[in-house]
Amino acid sequence: MLSKVIKKVTVIGAGFVGSTTAYTLMISGLVSEIVLIDINTEKAEGEVMDMNHGMPFVRPVKIYSGSYSDCAGSDIIIITAGANQKKGETRIDLVKRNTEIFRGIVGEVIKYSTDSILLVVTNPVDILTYVTYKLSGFPKNKVIGSGTVLDSARFRYLIGDHVGVDTRNVHAYILGEHGDTEVATWSLTNIAGIPMEMFCNECGKCKSGSTKEEIYENVKNAAYQIINKKGATYYAVALAVRRIVEAIVRNEDSILTVSSLLEGQYGLSDVCLSVPTLVNKDGIDKVLTVPLNSEEKNKLLASGNSLKEIINSIDLF
Ligand SMILES: NC(=O)c1ccc[n+]([C@@H]2O[C@H](COP(=O)([O-])OP(=O)(O)OC[C@H]3O[C@@H](n4cnc5c(N)ncnc54)[C@H](O)[C@@H]3O)[C@@H](O)[C@H]2O)c1
Repeated sequence: MLSKVIKKVTVIGAGFVGSTTAYTLMISGLVSEIVLIDINTEKAEGEVMDMNHGMPFVRPVKIYSGSYSDCAGSDIIIITAGANQKKGETRIDLVKRNTEIFRGIVGEVIKYSTDSILLVVTNPVDILTYVTYKLSGFPKNKVIGSGTVLDSARFRYLIGDHVGVDTRNVHAYILGEHGDTEVATWSLTNIAGIPMEMFCNECGKCKSGSTKEEIYENVKNAAYQIINKKGATYYAVALAVRRIVEAIVRNEDSILTVSSLLEGQYGLSDVCLSVPTLVNKDGIDKVLTVPLNSEEKNKLLASGNSLKEIINSIDLF
């Protein structure tokens, strides 16, 4: 008889991002159990009811709302809970507020689950990935931030859209912070193996310099643009999280720009940020060192140092 393989994911935070992530996982067929936890229990219960009523249309998956004891046995615990920036509040104030929220969440999670992979999505994601690593005491391979997986997808989409090529044939990475100091690595960008510079010369559609800057700015400012128009971003980030979950539960050895602890790579240590990283059933298998040009190296270093400054401003213990 076949033994029953349960793939269990807990999503903490049933807001826009958490509930869309749970829904995206529900229809993915990747997992067999999803727990949704929120301080607002009614919200979590309502989201669960709504998803469960679609059950006849998807592969069977058990979805329920619960408390922290229900995260026991999870393969992956996804944290999307947190406070949003208030009017007039600085980024550092928000970091401090979300660090306090994470102190509570991570404290509860580790009571019930000591061998799950923790996947952080709440912003500022790189800082909160570091905070989660420190507060949980989990090994570094088991604490992952969604990092610039979303930004790299936006980058690939905008390049593909500009040149008229299927996004999946565009290979491009945004590295560093998921935020204002993120780095577009044009030197690594290629379309079907053709380096971007060469592709641009042949395409001749635009003045590549200014278009590149525009594409980068649109990637970096995408969240601001969407939030101005509809209040929040959640579809693409949920798909990015689904992709990370897929790489883990299917043990794919996929290379994704997730955020994790750096220990000397690119001249950075004791900070979490995104670089191309091998992801599989163990979480982070290997942080890769990719060949950047000197401008990209300097920008990545600056991005890491600006994150370290923020880390130094928070009181963790
Ligand atoms: N990393 C990325 O690429 C990315 C992309 C989009 C959004 N985000 C971030 O995701 C986070 C969530 O965004 P959202 O739009 O879903 O916000 P939201 O306000 O809709 O949801 C947040 C949820 O967290 C819950 N919550 C607050 N404190 C809690 C606690 N102590 N325990 C349990 N639940 C708690 C709230 O009740 C709410 O339901 C934000 O930080 C946002 O910036 C990240």
